[in-house]
Order: sequence, then C-alpha cells, then structure tokens
Amino acid sequence: MADSSNFTKTKQAIVLTDEDWNVKWQTRQIGFHEKDVHPLLVEFQNEMINDKTKLNIFFPLCGKAVDMKWLADMGHNIVGVDISEIGLKEFFEEQNLPYFEEPVAEIPGAKVFKSTSGNISLYCCSIYTISSSVIGRFDGIWDRGALVAVNPCDRKRYANLLLSLLNRDSRYLLVVLDYDPTLITGPPFYVSESEMEQLFGSTCSYKLLKNIDVMTDKQRQRGLGYCNSKIYLITPKSIS
Ligand SMILES: C[S@@+](CC[C@H](N)C(=O)[O-])C[C@H]1O[C@@H](n2cnc3c(N)ncnc32)[C@H](O)[C@@H]1O
Repeated sequence: MADSSNFTKTKQAIVLTDEDWNVKWQTRQIGFHEKDVHPLLVEFQNEMINDKTKLNIFFPLCGKAVDMKWLADMGHNIVGVDISEIGLKEFFEEQNLPYFEEPVAEIPGAKVFKSTSGNISLYCCSIYTISSSVIGRFDGIWDRGALVAVNPCDRKRYANLLLSLLNRDSRYLLVVLDYDPTLITGPPFYVSESEMEQLFGSTCSYKLLKNIDVMTDKQRQRGLGYCNSKIYLITPKSIS
C-alpha cells in the first residue's frame, strides 16, 4: 500500500502550461502522435458522419493528427486548433499539402494555417481564445488526446467551449482513457464516468460506444494494472 506522501504525489494532478506543450514539441516528446488513422475513428466514423457529406469537423488540440487528412480526403471541411506552430506546420509538410499562413484578426498573436485547397484550416493559438464567432459551429468533433490533455482544473471551461461549437444535430466523438488514477497522473488525464456527467450531462446525451483494452508493456512498467480506451458519442439533447 502506498505511504501517505507517495499517495499525495500520485493523486496530485500536474498542471501544464502552453509553454510546456511548446517545449514538448521542440524536444520531440510527442509519443502521443500516431502515424496511422485512429482505429476507433475508422470503426465509428459513421457515428459522427451519419451518412452525410461535406461536414464541418472540428479537431480540438489537433497536433498533427493524420485523422484530419483522412477526413479531408473524404470531402469534409476540417478546422483544428493547437498551441504548437511546429505541430501544425509538420502536419501540412508531412501530408504534402501546400498551405499558407494568415493572422487571425479577432485573436491577437494567433495565426491560421490554411491548405491551398481550402478544406483544412488549423488555428495556432490557445483553445481558450477561440469561439464560434471566429471558427463557426461544427457538425462533428473528433476529440482524441484533447479532453484528456486538458488540465483537470480547466475541464469545465474546455467542455463548455466545445459545447458552444455544437449545432442541434452535431455529433461529438470523444476518446478517453480508463486507468487507476491513484497510480499515475496524466497527461493523458483520467476522466471518470461521473465527470462525464458533470461536463456533458445537463445539455447532452452521451453513449459509450466501445471500451477496449489498450494495455502495453510501457504502461505495465509504469505500474498500471489495466488501461482501457473508451469512445463516447455525445449529442445535444433535443429541445422539446
Ligand atoms: C496529447 S496531444 C494530442 C494531439 C492530437 N489530438 C493527437 O491525437 O495526436 C495534445 C495537444 O494539445 C495541444 N495543446 C495543449 N494545450 C493547448 C491549449 N490550451 N490550446 C491549444 N492546444 C493545446 C498540444 O500542443 C498538443 O499538440
């Protein structure tokens, strides 16, 4: 059993700043980046797309996720936000997509990188500086490595912001990790079922689509006994 000092240390969530994330990109601590399209997106894409075409899809805290190119190639319009200019430029360069850069008039210091084809716009700024008046509202949201990367103390603010970007018939896919949070801290931070209710329950319905074992030797070495990935579909409650 952990002694009390160790218990305090493992329970205490660390708080990451924008600068911490920029340093992670500069020093290549980007183990979160996956070279392939996320298997849960492949499996549950239609829960978000719902047999529709030309959707506006939002990627909060997008990094250089290859999932953005995959959905753009299907004809959807992609908007992402990340604090790291390195990640956003690497996305366009690695995907061989010509792009250009513009300032964002509404957000001092922010830039937007746009594909010349016009269907991918990636904003370089803190997610907390954006709003629907700048980037619009979305039919779909793909949230992988995003809510779980947000400092737990900022979660409510983050969730409210994402909810403000939804339409009445938007479909938001969220991937979280399930592990024993008394053993390690994030990121990725643990999000409990009761927190899902606090963050989304008053305005949205949410449904667990799948819970899969993603335990690896690395996580076993970190002391975890289990690690699951859960994908939820979040949809606004209809106003009657
Ligand atoms: C764990 S990574 C996940 C990236 C991407 N979603 C993926 O699946 O590969 C989290 C990302 O959030 C970005 N980030 C962290 N805090 C942010 C903030 N306040 N505003 C915008 N981006 C932020 C980081 O730069 C990093 O690229």
